Amino acid sequence: MSGATGTGVIHGVGVGPGDPGLLTVRAVEVLRSAGAVLAPAPHRGGDSLALSIVRPYLPAGCEVHTAHFPMTERRGELRAAWDEAAALLLRLAAAGAPVAFITLGDAMLYSTWSYLHAAVRRLAPDADVRTVPGVTAMSACAAAVGRPLAEGREPLLVWPDEPPADAGELLGLAPNVVFMKAGRHLPALATAAQRSGADAVAVRRASRPDEAWTTELREWAADREYFTTVLMHRAGEDTPTDGSAPASDPEEEHA
Ligand SMILES: C[S@@+](CC[C@H](N)C(=O)[O-])C[C@H]1O[C@@H](n2cnc3c(N)ncnc32)[C@H](O)[C@@H]1O
Repeated sequence: MSGATGTGVIHGVGVGPGDPGLLTVRAVEVLRSAGAVLAPAPHRGGDSLALSIVRPYLPAGCEVHTAHFPMTERRGELRAAWDEAAALLLRLAAAGAPVAFITLGDAMLYSTWSYLHAAVRRLAPDADVRTVPGVTAMSACAAAVGRPLAEGREPLLVWPDEPPADAGELLGLAPNVVFMKAGRHLPALATAAQRSGADAVAVRRASRPDEAWTTELREWAADREYFTTVLMHRAGEDTPTDGSAPASDPEEEHA
């Protein structure tokens, strides 16, 4: 895959939640043709989980680079890191082969890729930049516990980080709430679920060999693990408890 200018296409590739079997066929095609891959690393020189997922698919001779993105709210520092990574992607693509930035889950859901995508466009408006969507972590969590993320006409709310003081308020907005980065907030989420009469389940490392889940959220409070997601559901008029069919969209799945 070569862009109009003879430089390689720059892809942002969502590599899914952890199980290499959950890479998409498109992701594997892009990775097999890549001349270089850039992976986010949790700290300078650290291992990249995304890289461990895709390694079996990288062709011999594929250059592997890692980039560290600081955990900071300081916009200037973050922007400098995104610009540096975007400039590296452009330099690698100049060699002519496709280049891939790999990211966990989906590439356009709470992912560094959305910022890199914008940074590449800013630095090189004519660059050929594409995105390969991936299986989200929340999809893998729902699959692990055998519970829907949402059904019928129910809205779904995704909360990306520290929940509000009364997380239960969110269940007033939508009967299904997904809390990401939930490992540090399990006691507060357990309290919110109890007060709201909602079902809550915490899932960690979904789709990986050490996947686990619990409805006793406080049991994992001390672990504060990053790869933890909480799914909450408050039964309402859309969710009959008597086994009858929920109100559903008649066009659902028939389109
Ligand atoms: C920055 S978000 C990345 C979201 C990702 N782009 C996606 O599409 O799912 C990181 C959060 O995703 C969740 N996460 C990622 N992988 C996970 C997994 N295998 N199991 C459970 N939660 C996971 C955790 O809540 C983690 O704190």
